[in-house]
Amino acid sequence: MHTILITGAGTGLGKELALVYAKKGHTIILTGRKNAPLQEVKAMIVADGGRAFSHTLDLTQLADVQRKVAAITEEHTVTYLINNAGVGCFGSLTELASEEIELAIQTNVLGTIYLTKELLPHLLKQQQPKIMNIISTAGQKGKVNESVYVASKFAVRGFTESLQKELEGKVMVTATYMGGMDTPFWNGTDHIKDKSRLKSPKEVAEIITSQDVLPEIHV
Ligand SMILES: NC(=O)c1ccc[n+]([C@@H]2O[C@H](COP(=O)([O-])OP(=O)(O)OC[C@H]3O[C@@H](n4cnc5c(N)ncnc54)[C@H](OP(=O)(O)O)[C@@H]3O)[C@@H](O)[C@H]2O)c1
Repeated sequence: MHTILITGAGTGLGKELALVYAKKGHTIILTGRKNAPLQEVKAMIVADGGRAFSHTLDLTQLADVQRKVAAITEEHTVTYLINNAGVGCFGSLTELASEEIELAIQTNVLGTIYLTKELLPHLLKQQQPKIMNIISTAGQKGKVNESVYVASKFAVRGFTESLQKELEGKVMVTATYMGGMDTPFWNGTDHIKDKSRLKSPKEVAEIITSQDVLPEIHV
């Protein structure tokens, strides 16, 4: 059984991955910036007989990542990292505010890199450790009004494929590519007109968790 650290575990896909992996008997360490959603997911897992812990963590702050990784690894033996947290950034390039661009790059790219780098020495000491990076079809092809989001996901894809080579035989690294999901990700943007037509994050989580021995998952 793994002890799985999941980022962005209070909502959307991260929450559903936490619920499915907990049901399979794994211990879950839920992380995200807001405490209340993490507590809700933790309560759901515990009520279902599972094991879960929560730690607030802001991936854009390197010092916070370092502090929280130190605290988490003092308490737990983490064997599986799921880099799921991410933010959107939608609109034509000329209309995007520099703050939106920075937040997307800081969260999706630097956050993923910071946390992976900080946790890696700990993971390398474990038996058959794993890393899964939640990317997107935005990591595979360019899209209109998604230039910065796509750039961030191409970066995560490059990071993932490079780690697959660099850590071969030491850490299993999985890249996941999925299309749109009906999650809070789309709140505050009209980029998608009718999100009810998208896949549910529960359905996507079930597919991902059934295929997580593969280097690439396409949903
Ligand atoms: N929804 C889609 O259509 C879709 C499609 C393909 C791929 N994806 C990818 O799937 C992943 C999950 O997204 P989702 O759809 O489930 O959206 P979501 O419900 O908005 O989840 C994103 C999570 O990231 C966390 N987060 C954001 N900024 C953070 C930060 N600085 N530090 C730590 N946690 C942070 C959020 O929690 P807090 O606000 O509490 O921090 C939130 O729980 C993302 O990587 C996204 O790019 C989504």
